[in-house]
Amino acid sequence: VPRPVILGIESSCDETAVALVRGDRTIIAQAIASQEAEHAPYGGVVPEIAARAHAERLAPMLAKVMAEAGMTLDDVDAIAATAGPGLIGGVMVGLVSAKALAMASDKPLLAINHLEGHALSPRLADADLAFPYLLLLVSGGHCQILAVEGVGQYRRLATTIDDALGEAFDKTAKLIGLGYPGGPAVERLALQGNPTAVPLPRPMKGSAEPHFSFAGLKSAVLRAVDSGKHQPADIAASFQQAAVDCLIDRLELALAGAGPFPALVVAGGVAANQTVRSALEWLAAKHAMRFVAPPLALCTDNAAMIAWAGYERLALASSDFAGDPLDFVARP
Ligand code: KG4
Ligand code: ZN
Repeated sequence: VPRPVILGIESSCDETAVALVRGDRTIIAQAIASQEAEHAPYGGVVPEIAARAHAERLAPMLAKVMAEAGMTLDDVDAIAATAGPGLIGGVMVGLVSAKALAMASDKPLLAINHLEGHALSPRLADADLAFPYLLLLVSGGHCQILAVEGVGQYRRLATTIDDALGEAFDKTAKLIGLGYPGGPAVERLALQGNPTAVPLPRPMKGSAEPHFSFAGLKSAVLRAVDSGKHQPADIAASFQQAAVDCLIDRLELALAGAGPFPALVVAGGVAANQTVRSALEWLAAKHAMRFVAPPLALCTDNAAMIAWAGYERLALASSDFAGDPLDFVARP
């Protein structure tokens, strides 16, 4: 049996996920349980509900994935878990479980930064993706542009000074009366709307400050809703277009300052958005960059990306590396 095999656990937000990934990029088995139904009545993720749901589901999911693979912990070479950042209750459930498994099986623990999981996941999907690459990480909690120069070598070129882009999608959805999670709902409704119908700002556009801001866009959406003058579909389409314009403008600035890069890569839940993807594809073509968008299942939160980040770290570690300490502290 080819090795190494890494067991990955993800529990930092509202997805409980377990995966077994091999160094040759095979996802041997995986399971994902979304808590969407539990949080939907509240219009967002409730941390306490999330932590309890992770605690209930993780052990049976681990058993199921191991059984599906026909493996025991003897067949596993290391145990990787998200150690933060995330909702602390959920992170602790996953990390403590990984510590227990590592301790019981005498295998190394790999405490993985969730963002590093997103940043490296494109290399799980694409064996030809070499360092360096320019990464746009757009999720519910983060909105960053990173120069990914190697494993553990990430240079942050831009970040948001207020909301993350996924968060802005979720809030816009709420304002126009769509359910949670908002991103996919806004995208669906936008298909029926006119992206130029509602005048909305493009915060930070043209600014030499290399950052994102979406709070002002959200306030403008609120005013557009309150005015009663616009169709929800037009607001959704116009919001999406404004957001995409901001992404492209900020990426242009990053490229001007730190480029060129051979590849442009997108990761995080918002990478599921087709309008975002098309715009990035256009930008990549303009700058003669290869455009890499991992399959959607690897863009949203999952455990395969955590296992893969663990593998990438393990592959570079010295032969006497025994893993991260079992008292590794979970990060909120
Ligand atoms: O990466 P992810 O699954 O979780 C983290 O935040 O780490 O990202 C979830 C975010 C949510 O804000 C969700 O609304 C957004 O990604 N999202 C989308 C789409 N699908 C998910 N935003 C825009 N369009 C989509 N199709
Ligand atoms: Zn994430």
